[in-house]
Amino acid sequence: MFSQAQISKFRELPTPFYYYDLEVLEATLKSLQQEADSYNYHIHYALKANSNPEILKLIESYGLGADCVSGNEISRAIACGFPASKIAFAGVGKTDREIQTGLEHDIFCFNCESIPEIKIMNELAAQSGRKARIALRINPNVNANTHKYITTGLEENKFGINMWELEDVLSVLQHCKHLELIGLHFHIGSQITDLSAYKGLCLRVNEIQNWFYEHKIIVDHINVGGGLGIDYEHHRENRIPDFKTFFAIFHDFLELRPQQQVHFELGRSVVAQCGTLITKVLYVKNGVNTDFAIVDAGMTELLRPALYQAVHAISNISSASPTLKRYDVVGPICESSDCFAKALMLPETKRGDLIAIHSAGAYGEVMASQYNLRDLVKAVY
Ligand code: LLP
Repeated sequence: MFSQAQISKFRELPTPFYYYDLEVLEATLKSLQQEADSYNYHIHYALKANSNPEILKLIESYGLGADCVSGNEISRAIACGFPASKIAFAGVGKTDREIQTGLEHDIFCFNCESIPEIKIMNELAAQSGRKARIALRINPNVNANTHKYITTGLEENKFGINMWELEDVLSVLQHCKHLELIGLHFHIGSQITDLSAYKGLCLRVNEIQNWFYEHKIIVDHINVGGGLGIDYEHHRENRIPDFKTFFAIFHDFLELRPQQQVHFELGRSVVAQCGTLITKVLYVKNGVNTDFAIVDAGMTELLRPALYQAVHAISNISSASPTLKRYDVVGPICESSDCFAKALMLPETKRGDLIAIHSAGAYGEVMASQYNLRDLVKAVY
């Protein structure tokens, strides 16, 4: 929780803002690195979760690589010190310019998601006089049991190459002299809390590897993506995700050929718990069933509740009232979905109180917009 000194500091700052606790981030990184090192696993931090330079520099200092999904993310990663040799570039719709950015920096690997993309990648690599290292992103058709908007590994999803296309992919690759196939890539979804989904992924990867083996192909790198969920509800007790159990699943179930290296692309589990959105109560308005606490942050600062019905823990950090009351905590945007919580019990709340929306370090600031011509949200550390 926040100390009185921190709350007094917050009072002096214009709201809303993201507050990042770099000690929490460091504790998370230490645990992640320790657990990953015990199996020699490689971690690429998924910049899409939070690409704030202060955060990136700290993450890089722990030796992580980067997982990028745009040319600008590649440039940002490099500017923040990530070596190009540890950058993977994924995405179903890479533009020519973005591919060229990756080629210019000679990044570790392009995760290719379709046959047309492979052909363009080969052409652009030829033009730049280089050979591009690629991994095939394969759609493993494994259910991640998460929200449908953040499920990616099912046949109905747009991501990756489906299994029945693999024969065609191999014949196309035979003619791609400027590509070097170095890996297989998978990602089944995000905010995955049912870890048995990862066992399912491992078993499917084993089958797929057998298929490649029968076709006389053994790649050096197996990238199993990210998606490890965090505990939004018990954010204080479970501040550091259970990386140990997560990695143990891959150690136990993933069958590797000699020399094969395993890569992960973790985003949320690295940064979610270090960020809090701090907002101020503008008005308390009487409603029919509950009162409304109208705050000065909205879906423009944190989109997750409106887009995925996500639930973030919320506390009133400045009210010492012993009386609990029921509130809908809502933002100022002209949309009914601009609501952070319904019928939430909070200490009696009044204008000027500071409200903390927890576990907002991932997919918070990065998804902010200027809808309604609002100012872009700021960050403090
Ligand atoms: N690798 C790939 C190919 C991905 O698509 C993603 C996330 C990651 C890695 C990182 O996943 P993570 O470890 O962070 O779960 N905006 C949504 C989440 C979108 C996730 C997109 N892909 C949310 O706020 O829940």
